[in-house]
Amino acid sequence: MTMAKPKYELILLKNMLQPGYTGSLADYERAGGYQALRKILGKVAPAEVTAMVTKSGLRGRGGAGFPAGIKWGFLPKDYQGPKYLCCNADESEPGTFKDRQLMERDPHQVLEGIAIACYAIGAETAYIYIRGEFVLGAKILEKAIAEARAAGYLGKNVLGAGVTIDVWVHRGAGAYICGEETALLESLEGKRGLPRVKPPFPATAGLYGKPTVINNVETLANLPHIITRGPEWFASIGSPPKSTGMRIFCVSGHVKRPGNYEVPMGITCRDLIFEHAGGMRSDKPLKAIIPGGASASFFTPEHLDVKLDFESVAQAGSMLGSGGVTVMEEGTSMVWAALRLMEFFHHESCGKCSPCREGSSWLVQTLRRIVNKRGRMQDLETLTDLCQNIAGRTVCAFGDAEVAPILSTLKYWRHEYEELIRTAEANGSSELLMPAAARH
Ligand SMILES: Cc1cc2nc3c(=O)[nH]c(=O)nc-3n(C[C@H](O)[C@H](O)[C@H](O)COP(=O)(O)O)c2cc1C
Repeated sequence: MTMAKPKYELILLKNMLQPGYTGSLADYERAGGYQALRKILGKVAPAEVTAMVTKSGLRGRGGAGFPAGIKWGFLPKDYQGPKYLCCNADESEPGTFKDRQLMERDPHQVLEGIAIACYAIGAETAYIYIRGEFVLGAKILEKAIAEARAAGYLGKNVLGAGVTIDVWVHRGAGAYICGEETALLESLEGKRGLPRVKPPFPATAGLYGKPTVINNVETLANLPHIITRGPEWFASIGSPPKSTGMRIFCVSGHVKRPGNYEVPMGITCRDLIFEHAGGMRSDKPLKAIIPGGASASFFTPEHLDVKLDFESVAQAGSMLGSGGVTVMEEGTSMVWAALRLMEFFHHESCGKCSPCREGSSWLVQTLRRIVNKRGRMQDLETLTDLCQNIAGRTVCAFGDAEVAPILSTLKYWRHEYEELIRTAEANGSSELLMPAAARH
């Protein structure tokens, strides 16, 4: 995997890029690891740690971009029972592969972040819910947890401060929906991973009905640095005040150097693709960009100068999401691309909400007919209508996610849909009714 070109001072990928760095406890300590935990345990009040994180402006790196410190502040004050931290390591969003690298290459950075968050919110138990396919990552984390326990960074009476922090790795069984925070909680409780209706929010009724914080791996990995170097330092990086810090973008697709690139929030799509990822892999020009994982609306070459920060990407009609940037060259069929993504969402729909369960099936069937040159013009209205009846009408954000690729390809490349349909009409292969065979 290509690593970030160190043009900026790297934060999260810094250690692993050092020659000979193995991610062991000894290596991590030599690089200054666990100093942040030492700095706060029993010395800085938990509420003050939360205040530091809020001041840093750190926003969630899992998708929704919610401010981490503010989320922690939603936990009920003076609650006497158990509270939990869940580290969301499900990373199933197509085109996203940063959490995997963080866990496999520098596991203690993630564990120190988890310990800091546990201390701040008063949780004695943290679960790392890791994507089932990440067998190596799970093994590496287990080993790192054992090392940290033996060294007194985890377990009972951490660093002699009278605080208990236990961390457990829980492997998922390969369902995209289990990355959604409430489905993750259901799965962790041993049930089928279906999202819960909110409210109540996990902060008040989460794992086993107890106050719970769920944070992404990358979000948590930032914490040791915020504590060591101060919230002001973190808040000065990127696009302050609303998009602070560095961000790991996972660049994939038709570029010369696909890989993870850690860059300040707010660099442009152009910089990321052409400077860091080496530009297009062949002489074919750029055609399309997914800026934030499969759930994000497509961008076109017109968007190359959009800044990759939460606000700018949203203003341009998409979202920063999981940081998965997929690049497509001229010659890629955008109808086919929409179908491919929709097949994924249809396969992964958990089935709880009928608009998503039924709608995703209809969307796949309709797209497949168009791609297979059996479509008709009316299908375009059907697609739009289906999307409008899914978005905002499901328990979780999956519904909004699955319609984004279709609505955005219809917006920017409607002529490609029309061309396929015109060919079908000219061939006499348009189908007026959906045949049973096309439903499977
Ligand atoms: C369908 C779906 C899948 C998701 N998958 C992930 C995931 O794999 N990893 C992740 O961190 N967040 C994922 N999220 C976002 C989580 O629900 C949640 O917002 C996030 O874990 C919170 O952590 P953060 O605030 O640190 O970003 C997903 C959301 C949805 C709707």
